[in-house]
Formats: sequence, structure tokens, C-alpha cells
Amino acid sequence: MHRVTLVAAAAAAAGVVAAAPARSAVQCPWMNLAATPAQRAAQLLAAMTTSDKLALFTGVDPHAALGVADGPLYVGYVPGNPALCIPALTLNDGPAGVADLQIGTTSFPAPIAQAATWDPALQRTLGRTLGLEAWNKGIDVLLGPDVNIARVPENGRNFEAFGEDPYLSGQTAAAEIQGIQENPVIATVKHFAVNSQETNRYYVSSNVDDRTLHEIYLPPFETAVRQGGVGAVMCAYGLVNGTFDCQNPALLTTVLRGQFGFRGLVMSDWGATWSTVQSANAGLDLEMPGGRFFGSALADAVSAGAVSMQTVDGMALDILTSMFRLGLFDHPPPALESVSSTDVSTAADQQVALRAAEEGTVLLRNEGGVLPLRPAPGSTIALIGAPAGFGDLRAYTSGGGSAFVASATPVAPLGAITARAARAGATVVSADGSDPAAAAALARTASVAVVFAYDQEHEGVDRTTLALPNGQDQLIEQVAAANPHTIVVLDTGGPVLMPWLDQVDGVVEAWYPGERDGDAIAAVLFGDVDPSGKLPQTFPVSDASVPAASTNQWPGSDAAQDASFSEALDVGYRWYDANHVAPLFPFGFGLSYTRFSYSRLRIARDRSRYSVSFTLRNTGSLPGADVPQLYVDDPRAAGEPPKQLEGYERVFLRPGRSTRVTFVLDGRSFAYWDTPTATWRIEPGLYRILVGASSRDIRLRGFVRR
Ligand code: NOJ
Repeated sequence: MHRVTLVAAAAAAAGVVAAAPARSAVQCPWMNLAATPAQRAAQLLAAMTTSDKLALFTGVDPHAALGVADGPLYVGYVPGNPALCIPALTLNDGPAGVADLQIGTTSFPAPIAQAATWDPALQRTLGRTLGLEAWNKGIDVLLGPDVNIARVPENGRNFEAFGEDPYLSGQTAAAEIQGIQENPVIATVKHFAVNSQETNRYYVSSNVDDRTLHEIYLPPFETAVRQGGVGAVMCAYGLVNGTFDCQNPALLTTVLRGQFGFRGLVMSDWGATWSTVQSANAGLDLEMPGGRFFGSALADAVSAGAVSMQTVDGMALDILTSMFRLGLFDHPPPALESVSSTDVSTAADQQVALRAAEEGTVLLRNEGGVLPLRPAPGSTIALIGAPAGFGDLRAYTSGGGSAFVASATPVAPLGAITARAARAGATVVSADGSDPAAAAALARTASVAVVFAYDQEHEGVDRTTLALPNGQDQLIEQVAAANPHTIVVLDTGGPVLMPWLDQVDGVVEAWYPGERDGDAIAAVLFGDVDPSGKLPQTFPVSDASVPAASTNQWPGSDAAQDASFSEALDVGYRWYDANHVAPLFPFGFGLSYTRFSYSRLRIARDRSRYSVSFTLRNTGSLPGADVPQLYVDDPRAAGEPPKQLEGYERVFLRPGRSTRVTFVLDGRSFAYWDTPTATWRIEPGLYRILVGASSRDIRLRGFVRR
């Protein structure tokens, strides 16, 4: 309570969040800031009628409720109750910026790029910025972050989440949530749980064993709850082991409330509620967008005794407690009419978007030091855009679907690179790539050629292949044949195949960089910033050499009603390691313009914790950041994959400088989920501690005996 109040007060002092309208404590005694959120929620609950409570459990059409025909609006709306001083819940997406019908908000890099920064401090800043923009646009519930694990790289929402590793996803999410919730805004971690494909997303059952569920798919949610203090959880479309997620008591009650200790609001994804009694009794609090199974149907079920008053009270407390805890009662956002056309994207916000795009950009290949670009004065750089769609020389601001954020001021690569090249005395010539022969002819005249390639991920559809669409491979091959110094910049939401890899000198994965696309890519290409992003996801060599390669696994058998998670724990790099399959680029990989050495590993025990420290030195000639990673290799008897990420830290160093980096491992770092006892256990034996620059570049090794 203190934290929220102080932060909100500080924000108010800074002029960003208006002070709460002082409701009379006589009319609404729960508006007393001295009481705890739980006390205030209980006090309010005691003053509510059953129908007051039921109104909290269902969204309504915001257009109808607010009498707005169209224009910028919320994607979800639960009316307030002025007599009881209950503010409306105003909900909007999402993970890459304040989305949906909102305008005048910042388009941040896609979450996969955010994860590629491996920078929780920056992610917290991004969350704080996102949360404040939401609030300034009249939104008090933000629908993100998305922590679904990238099980299949073809997933159409790959761009929208944090990659394939539960630890990295959890840390990234917790930081963002803490940032969002520094404002009087509830963050929503989604989609609970195992929402790992778009093919038949409403009906597919993810059939996954309990251990895999607990070790791979659930931990980011647990971290979001315990470490992030998230206020809301969105249950997912689809089923887990034959039960719809939003009426799944094992997920919503046993795991979420029981094991994780979550005390907040569970809402359904839009249209993911399938029942009244079962859902309410399983632990769903809020049906979105609402009106079908809760509302009057729930009122009937309560009258009939099929849903108890105790359950109703519990649902109300879940919602109200989060609202009180995160400051929604005390700092309601401005009304829609006053902000719908306001531009809330400040220069400082756009700077955060730029930094995230720069830090999240991953240098994958740099033969012969083709990068950074150091053009001789008077030389020519050829910029070639992919034939159509977003990936040409305009900015690639966002993936498609509910996370899409329109930007009013996107910075295109063409303009930014042309300006940066001019400062170096070089000239940019460009072609749109629709005629590969013409593009190749242009490339031949230049000292270096940069080809921008893209894919188009979109919510609702999976990709059918990881190959670049629209003949881009041929375009790249023809340009590379014409110019020996060809660099490919990828604007993709996830892994793509690179049949031309050996023919090009440079490859940069820029993801969907958001509205500062051009500035970020120019800075990286010219070495104004050191590329320091690391892959949050393995890039495979082919469509077939992936963990879930059979139809039974993805998209599933029987017209995709059943997806068998038979790869079990071997998700992402775990599978490549366990099966000795070489990836194209491994998890955790990313080059820099400088070099780092790792030395003097020391492991010390401090009661139940271990601290692992080592010396990291910048041995190159440029300043830069590295992200040392700690993996634990459990004893074989534990039945775990060969190595798992348990720590990482982004470290910036000037040339010649060094620092001690320390990771702390706790019991959970060594534990596996024991299904028979439903507990975390540690198998006695020798645990190998692996510290390196990627999952396939281990520089230091040590042991811990448990
Ligand atoms: C469906 C998406 O799955 C979810 O992520 C989003 O928040 C809602 N639609 C609302 O737009």
C-alpha cells in the first residue's frame, strides 16, 4: 500500500497523475488510505448487494456503455459503481505499447526484442513508461505481459512473448510488471496457461505432463506473481489436458492460488469463457468481453445455489483487492473524452523505445569485420528493401493482432541510415527489391549492400514454414552474388531460415523494432552503439529440425484438437542439447563489436544459497555490453535436460576494464518438480555450473554437490 501511494503521490507531484478526487469517507468508508487493501476490500464487500458484486464479474460493450459510436476506446470495460466509489475497469492491450483503438501512444519494440535485451532494469523502465501512457489514456488495466513459452517457432504470436526459456521469460515479465504497477495500473500476465500456438487456438488441447507443466510452462507465471506482484492473470483460449483453461480448477485454484499464492483477479481471454457454474467454481472472476456466461446466467446460478455466496464473495475480493492494492480507487485515470485524442507519447518515452530497440538488436554474423560500417568518404551504401508489406525501407513498428500499436511518428531505416551515412560522407542509394535483378545491379555499384528482410507474424495464424516469405531468399542471394559485402537486417518476430547465410558477410536480427526502428538500426550498423542483444530463442537450421517436428506435436492431431507435448521438458535449447542437434544460432547467442574474457570462477556456499562469481573483462578495443549466462546441468538421475538457465546479467564495460559478476543460486535453481508428491525436490549428486556467453559457448565450469 505504501509503495503504491508513495509512487502515485510522487507521480502526482511530477504532474503526471492527478490526485484522487476526494470522495467522502462518510459515503465510502473504504476510501480510507490508512487501512490495508484487504481491509478496504472487506469493508466494501460488506456494503455490497449481490447484484453489486455480480456486476464486477462481467465486462460490457464499452461503446454501448459510454454511448460512443466509434473512435478510440477500450478493448474491455467493466462499469464502475459511483454510489460505492468503485471506479470502472478500463482494459486495453498490451505488450508492445498501448494498443487497440488508442492513438498517440508509443510503439515499443516487440516483446521478443525486449527479451533479447536481457536487461531487467530497462524492462522495468519500459513497463513504467507503458503503464503511465496507459493511465494517461484513461486505462487502468493493461493486458500484458504475455509469457507463453515459445514452444514452436512458427507460433503467430512468437513476437509477442519472451522466447523459449522460463527463467528469462519470468525475469523479463516480473521487471515489466513492477514497472507498469508503479502507476495506478493493474498489469495482466497472460495467457494462463500453455497458449503456445495459434492454429485452432480456441479448441486445441495442450496435452502436457505435470512435470513439464511445472518446469517449463508455469514458472514465468509464478515469477510474475511472486516477484512481479502482478494484479491480474488472464486465462487462455484452449484446453490443458482436456479442460478449458478458464474453467480449469487445477490451474486456476490449485496452482495459481494454492501453489503460487496469487490473491488477485483472474479474467478470461476475450471469448475464452465456456461455462457459468464450472468457471466460477474453478476460480474465474471476470468474464471478458462479458455478458454471456456471467451476468444474468451467473445470477441464476447463484439463486439456484450452484455457485455459493462464499464463491461470489471470493470473486469480488479477488477483484477489489487488486484494485485497492494497485491504487485504482485512489487514482482513477482521466475520463475517455478528455484523453482520446491526446498524444501521450513523450520524447522520453520514445527514448525508452529506442534504447530497447538498440539493446535488443542481435548481431548474428559479422565476417571480416563488415560491421560496424565505416564507409570511406564518397563511397556508396546500397539499401534494398523487401518487395512488399512492412519489411521494406519503412519502419517495422509492430506485429499484428491485439498487440498491434500504430505509431504516428515512425522512423524509417531509409531516412535514418541516409542521414547517418551523410555524416560519414557516404551516399545511400536504394531500391525496393521488387525487381531482384535491378536490386543486384544497384548493389554492384556500392561498397556495401544492406538488405532488409521481414516476416509478418500475426495473432490468429501460425506460420507454416520458417522460410522468409515472398521470394526474399532469392532476393538476398542475388544481391549477395552481386556484392561480396552484403548485410541482411531481419525484421522478424522469431526464427527464420537462412539458406544464404554463407553468402553474406553480416546478419542483424532487429525483430520488430517499434517506432524508433530506423534510429536503432542506424546506430547499430554504424557502431554508435555496440550490438548487445542475445537470442531469447534458438534459430533452427530447417523447419524439420525443431523440438516439436511431428504433426501430433504441432499443430496437433485430429484436426488439431490435440497437441501432444511429447517432447516434454525438451523445449527450445533443452531439446537441441539433449538430442545433439546443431542449431543455426543457439539460445543466448549474440555477437558484439568488442570481445570479452571470462576467468577466475569461484563458487561459495552461504547456508542454502550458492554464489557463483567470476571476472568478466572487455578485451577488445570498443566499449560494449555482454550478457554472461549461468546454466545448471543437473545429475543425470534427476532426469533433467542437459543445461538450464538459472542466472544472467547484462554488464557494460569500457575497453580493458573488468568486473566481478556474481550470480546467486537458491534451492529452486537445482530443483525438479516431483509429480507424485507435487513438490520441488533436489536429487542428491553433482551439479555442473556452466558460465558462458551463450548456451553453446560455455567458458567456465564448476561443481556444486547437493
Ligand atoms: C485476445 C488475445 O488473445 C489477448 O491477448 C488480448 O488481450 C485480447 N484478445 C483483448 O484484445
